[in-house]
Amino acid sequence: MTNMAILLSGRGSNMLALAQRCAQGDLEAKICFVASDKKDAYGIMMAKSLGLKTLLLPYEEGKEQAEKVLDEKLQSDSVDWIVLAGFMRMLSPTFVGKYEKRIVNIHPSLLPSFPGTQAIKDAFEYGVKVTGVTVHLVDEKMDHGPILSQREVRICDEDTLESLEEKIHAIEHDLYWQTLKNLFAGRFKMKGRRMTIEGPY
Ligand code: GRF
Repeated sequence: MTNMAILLSGRGSNMLALAQRCAQGDLEAKICFVASDKKDAYGIMMAKSLGLKTLLLPYEEGKEQAEKVLDEKLQSDSVDWIVLAGFMRMLSPTFVGKYEKRIVNIHPSLLPSFPGTQAIKDAFEYGVKVTGVTVHLVDEKMDHGPILSQREVRICDEDTLESLEEKIHAIEHDLYWQTLKNLFAGRFKMKGRRMTIEGPY
């Protein structure tokens, strides 16, 4: 069984989708704990209501201290993978270096287009006809590491920002667990910067 920890800052719909897939046995992994930099994040309340362990990261004491608390918990719970799901902080290069290729993130655009915290709005306002979702490994730069999977979302003339957000989130909730399943099974191989997948996807 793969051990994972989920980090979030907000509403936690991706955490919830992953927790449901774990509970149904689609994703054979254990959520050791859900951590947040925000004590009143809706996702933390939801994690508690699901009976998951939670951890508050004390960023008010500085990034170094917050990452020390996280690191200790990751070690004590023997966590294999750190899964970012709307975690709105940059992890330090030291932390990322220590957990190299063991941190994964989901981003609501087709990277490298529209990195940053307002990707759906940025893509919508730019007027692109196709956007989407990216799951990638985390490196020291924002929304930058090797891409594991992407799925496109078409923006129709009838779409509003709200309808686009709904479409993107629906794709996220499907793409993340499927990608993690392949990742945890060790099916991704690295060829240069390119992550390839072995066997049927
Ligand atoms: C998602 O759009 C994710 O791609 C981005 O942050 C958002 C988190 O949403 N990184 P939620 O908290 O999982 O609902």
